[in-house]
Amino acid sequence: MIKVWDYLKEYELLREDILSAVDEVFKNGTLIFGPKLDEFEEKFSTYHECKYGIGVGNCTDAITIALKAFDIGAGDEVITTSNTAVPTVTAIVNTGASAKFVDINQYSLMDVDRLENFINKKTKAIVPVHLYGQMCEMDKIMEIAKKHNLKVIEDCAQSHGATYKNKKAGSIGDAGCYSFYPTKIFGAYGDGGFISTNNEKLYDRMKRIRFLGMEKKKMSSGHWNGKYYAVEHGTNSRLDEVHAAILLKKLPYLDEWINRRRQIGKRYNDELKNLDIELPLEHPDNKHAYYIFVVAHPDRDKIMSKLSKKNIHLNISYPWPIHIMDAYRHFVCSSCTCLTKTEEMAKKIFSLPMYPTLTDDEQGIVIKELKKLI
Ligand SMILES: Cc1ncc(COP(=O)(O)O)c(C=O)c1O
Repeated sequence: MIKVWDYLKEYELLREDILSAVDEVFKNGTLIFGPKLDEFEEKFSTYHECKYGIGVGNCTDAITIALKAFDIGAGDEVITTSNTAVPTVTAIVNTGASAKFVDINQYSLMDVDRLENFINKKTKAIVPVHLYGQMCEMDKIMEIAKKHNLKVIEDCAQSHGATYKNKKAGSIGDAGCYSFYPTKIFGAYGDGGFISTNNEKLYDRMKRIRFLGMEKKKMSSGHWNGKYYAVEHGTNSRLDEVHAAILLKKLPYLDEWINRRRQIGKRYNDELKNLDIELPLEHPDNKHAYYIFVVAHPDRDKIMSKLSKKNIHLNISYPWPIHIMDAYRHFVCSSCTCLTKTEEMAKKIFSLPMYPTLTDDEQGIVIKELKKLI
């Protein structure tokens, strides 16, 4: 069987390292907020060219925390795209703000030429989603944000290690938010998330919000160096020591794994280019990290079910744009015509197997079977 995603082969390769990392944490006696998290926060933010980093429970929390640290909440609007994973919007709505959706361009990314149409007095932030492993046009986004005094929180859940004009995902906006959900380019063995920033004040506030809005305060009795005291309302979202330790073992491989993804992407592009199928475009300013390899065909459901019978499993990310789902349709008007490209793509996109341990033979079978069908 060829899976659309698989972690078991990676685990086979790293098993001893991972188990020894877990054992080290268990023996060390600190399970939350310890030396592994400190080291990981330093190394992962440095990798993404940022001065500060905060490990959190997941990327949904990361985006919410970053927005809350800018006091974004009820009555405010945040602009993003609708062809994203639900959590991008969950995170915005968690703050009390409303989401506004811009249509996408030929790269399936925020169409920056339409962005300004959605800015009004209530707009406080933009959440560009670096979807499928490719970054949005950040120069234009930052220029528009500056002009209208908006914050930019990059959703990097799908784009660890990707670059735009040689700058890493998460290093350009006010903050970058990453997911370590197991399927991601850089996945944990459970949930995990991260926020990076170059802004020290923002870092301090996000760190406080991550941990129940608390800071250490001296007791008047003089006992203790400091006990936790809630300075503001926060949340509880922590990356634990076990996961920080596992991710530290994985980090040295990230570039190699992205290169392998790009190699797999190149082969798909080369060998499928003469078929009647839409292939993903890489923007000339970008280094695509190929979280997933998304193609489009009007008969995708037929193609998927035929390949599934041959034990080749494909996926759809995502079959429904956010703005048509019951939970969020109130963010657009009932006769909305602004999101035509988003809606058109959702009907025909699907993704091919893409992960560093996919073998050349397995990829060859996927290509051969697709050629037979299309
Ligand atoms: C684009 C995008 N944003 C945010 C998230 C949320 O990540 P997490 O599952 O870590 O909360 C995901 C994960 O599915 C995602 O793909």
